[in-house]
Amino acid sequence: MLRSLQQLPADPILGLSAACRADPNPGKVDLTVGIYMDEAGVCPVFEAIQMAQRALVEEEVTKAYLPAAGDESFNTGLQRLVLGEGSAALLEGRVSSIQTPGGCGALRIGAEIVHAAAPDARVWVSDPTWPVHIPLLGSVGLEFRTYNYYDPATHGVNFDAMVEDLKNAVAGDVVLLHGCCHNPCGADLTLPQWGVIAEMAERQGFTPFVDFAYQGLGDGLEEDAAGLRLLVSRLPEVIVAASCSKNFGLYRERVGAAIFVCSDAANARAILSQSQAAARRVYSMPPAQGALLAGRVLSDDRLGAIWRTELSAMCQRINGLRSDLRRALEAQCGGDFAFIEREKGMFSFLGLSAEQAQRLRHEHSVYMLDSSRINVAGVNARNIGYIAESVAKVL
Ligand SMILES: Cc1ncc(COP(=O)(O)O)c(C=O)c1O
Repeated sequence: MLRSLQQLPADPILGLSAACRADPNPGKVDLTVGIYMDEAGVCPVFEAIQMAQRALVEEEVTKAYLPAAGDESFNTGLQRLVLGEGSAALLEGRVSSIQTPGGCGALRIGAEIVHAAAPDARVWVSDPTWPVHIPLLGSVGLEFRTYNYYDPATHGVNFDAMVEDLKNAVAGDVVLLHGCCHNPCGADLTLPQWGVIAEMAERQGFTPFVDFAYQGLGDGLEEDAAGLRLLVSRLPEVIVAASCSKNFGLYRERVGAAIFVCSDAANARAILSQSQAAARRVYSMPPAQGALLAGRVLSDDRLGAIWRTELSAMCQRINGLRSDLRRALEAQCGGDFAFIEREKGMFSFLGLSAEQAQRLRHEHSVYMLDSSRINVAGVNARNIGYIAESVAKVL
């Protein structure tokens, strides 16, 4: 039976990162996978997480399963972090959430619930979107439609075209939005633009599904949640896939949550039971470690303050790297790279052709996707000059 299956090509992003690891050039630069790297080129463990981990090792007395919906202090802490302390939807008890293996698990559980509620729902995704959205949501059986989003000419959002496309989204459809730090383009909606999307959802009846994987890495924890919270303040139903991979540095621990803002408390309870059943079908029980660590940080004022300071430093460093990279590229290549500074989060399209991105890999060992998407957080003081010189050579 197994022999009938053929080997698949490597994942386009992970395959490039593996190629970079195998490259013997000591000056190689990996700008492929979306992982935060510090100045030393290391993806660090937050001090707050290390402290929580030491306490957990001391106190842990069991490895029995967590409850099916996950760790309670994690779930309530993350709901507050995402929706805001004073969220009316939270106070009205019409929010339920389930701890998931990463943001990917949350996207998948969200898709399972959408499919259970509306099997013919169409999911509207931005052009471009994170490529993993397609298998994660599509394998549930949902159909896709694309809305215009990124304009390579301006390196910004083509909002008029987005609105034009979304006029075709109807009640029973889902519109997938990147809550902040759009992956892959780094171009985000402004708050007034979120307001327009809220009005359209109110009028047309579609349901926003917000992928929220980078809270705290754009402008700050509260600022990055403003668009999502605006939707929640105006609409009866919003689905959120939250990830703790980047903002808690818990990538490999696989922790996130599918959060459902429902029209009333009874429906929130119904959706919780449906999400538990969906998780049971897909992976049965959530992993514990990451949620226990994030839950502890979120429920302990001292750890929480340390974590917020660390996250804010990360965010400021990314924004500093954006300015530095803009200056380095403008100095080496001429032209206007101001867009790098305007964008948010870890990603940016440099605007190179696939052939130029390939030459950067083959001739200079600078690895980025063929689309010229870079992970800005892979830049540091040691490699920035080399990156800019190499880009100038292929331009
Ligand atoms: C846009 C987007 N959504 C969701 C995720 C979820 O990541 P994870 O499952 O590692 O939490 C990522 C991670 O790279 C992402 O870029």
